[in-house]
Amino acid sequence: MKALVIHGPNLNMLGRREPDVYGTTTLEEINDAIQKEAKALGVEVETVQTNCEGEIVDVIQKSVEKYDGIIINPGAYTHYSYAIRDAIAGCSLPVVEVHLSNIYAREDFRKKSVTAPVVLGQISGFGTLSYILALRALSEAAKKK
Ligand code: DQA
Repeated sequence: MKALVIHGPNLNMLGRREPDVYGTTTLEEINDAIQKEAKALGVEVETVQTNCEGEIVDVIQKSVEKYDGIIINPGAYTHYSYAIRDAIAGCSLPVVEVHLSNIYAREDFRKKSVTAPVVLGQISGFGTLSYILALRALSEAAKKK
């Protein structure tokens, strides 16, 4: 099983970005934790970060030939990107949506995810653990396939 983790806009700033909301863990540290869990689960994981909506669409489209599943934190695109939603809906891979913060406990505009209806499931509010739980869920889903 090979999975791709897509980190969306502003997640490259983790550690320095709104630490009261997102904590002080950097993206590099999150990726290290993901790799550690991947090793324990016996799955192969690649990670990518981009601030660009179109690049996320490109990466999802190309993933079909290379990966068995995707974990995505679409950042603010979660709340309004129909392009990313459509890319997920059309990619035929299991996709798990992740958020570090609990998007339902924050501003009203964050309470709607346009991507949630087309993913396998969503994990929100557990910081780095959200990614770890997503990886476990994806690896279980892949086993059942
Ligand atoms: C986020 C939540 C989004 O609302 C926000 O725009 C982000 C991060 C999260 O991981 O909690 O950039 O996706």
